[in-house]
Amino acid sequence: MSKKTILTGDRPTGPLHLGHYFGSLVNRIAFQDEFESYFIIADVQALTDHWEEPELVRQNVFEVACDNLAAGIDPDKSTLFIQSQIPEIAELTIFYSNLVTINTLRRNPTVKSEIAEKRLLFGDDGESVTFGFLGYPVSQAADITCVRADLVPVGADQLPMIEQTREIIEKFHRIYNCNIFPIPKAHLSNSPRILGLDGDAKMSKSLNNAIYLKDSEEDTIQKIKTAKTDSESTVSFDPKERPEISNLILLFALANSTTPEEVAKDLVNVNYSTFKQKLADDLNKFLKSLRERRVEIASNPKKVMDILENGRIKTQKKAAETMRLVREAMKINY
Ligand code: TRP
Repeated sequence: MSKKTILTGDRPTGPLHLGHYFGSLVNRIAFQDEFESYFIIADVQALTDHWEEPELVRQNVFEVACDNLAAGIDPDKSTLFIQSQIPEIAELTIFYSNLVTINTLRRNPTVKSEIAEKRLLFGDDGESVTFGFLGYPVSQAADITCVRADLVPVGADQLPMIEQTREIIEKFHRIYNCNIFPIPKAHLSNSPRILGLDGDAKMSKSLNNAIYLKDSEEDTIQKIKTAKTDSESTVSFDPKERPEISNLILLFALANSTTPEEVAKDLVNVNYSTFKQKLADDLNKFLKSLRERRVEIASNPKKVMDILENGRIKTQKKAAETMRLVREAMKINY
């Protein structure tokens, strides 16, 4: 039996951090043996809210590629590619755009909250939202369907995108009387959500509260030292009442392959500064070999670009088959 296909990826707006690592990279590494795996570096999507910063997006395509490779994505097993290198994605986006109403896009909960966060770009009431940003879920459906993915490993914030993709596929099949695409399922990671070091709900490049895979040991120590805690004198795990310290305990547990509850038992009567020192040390130990690999990978940009070029070739091969089926179904196979 042929392997099922997965596709997932990231917007290259910054290097990847611990939230990405424990939330998705770990799973990607596990998936690549079992599935035909595609990992997209979604530069076109990154440009939907960074169109005025093309340099930033370009630089981060490279950073995200290095992060994926250093974490263990094996280019002999998996396909790592850049979204803008696959014109078929842009074509599919246009064809699908007939099948999606503007109201549906406006109601997409993830898009909605992103528009609300990006007041400077899109106005206080989202009145200046662009066609491109509002439509990025359609383009994401094109990402997923160009390789006819069965499974899309993502975080919970991406569920509306998968739902939108399913709706597009079902409509496409019905209207054009065909059955080209598998109906993709989301695969939610079971690793717990990592908060920002400032206690914000999300570790995020835009909030500057993240530990990056590429950070130096010194950066890591400094960031943990200044991470927000509370005014209690002892450490305890209580994610509801004490989110900041509990998040640090969670990181400690992940770095030591144990559970936060186990960690908390050992921490009774340990003070914050001792705990933070140990946490920074353990994170640095945990990341040591990944960081060494990353330095080596990043020192050879030509090799990274070759890997991405191979990714382009493999992805386009699959996308070309998809386009043949799509054009035939839509009667535009002149
Ligand atoms: N929207 C995703 C994010 O912000 C990135 C992404 C782009 C993606 N295309 C995708 C994820 C296709 C899964 C499948 O993280």
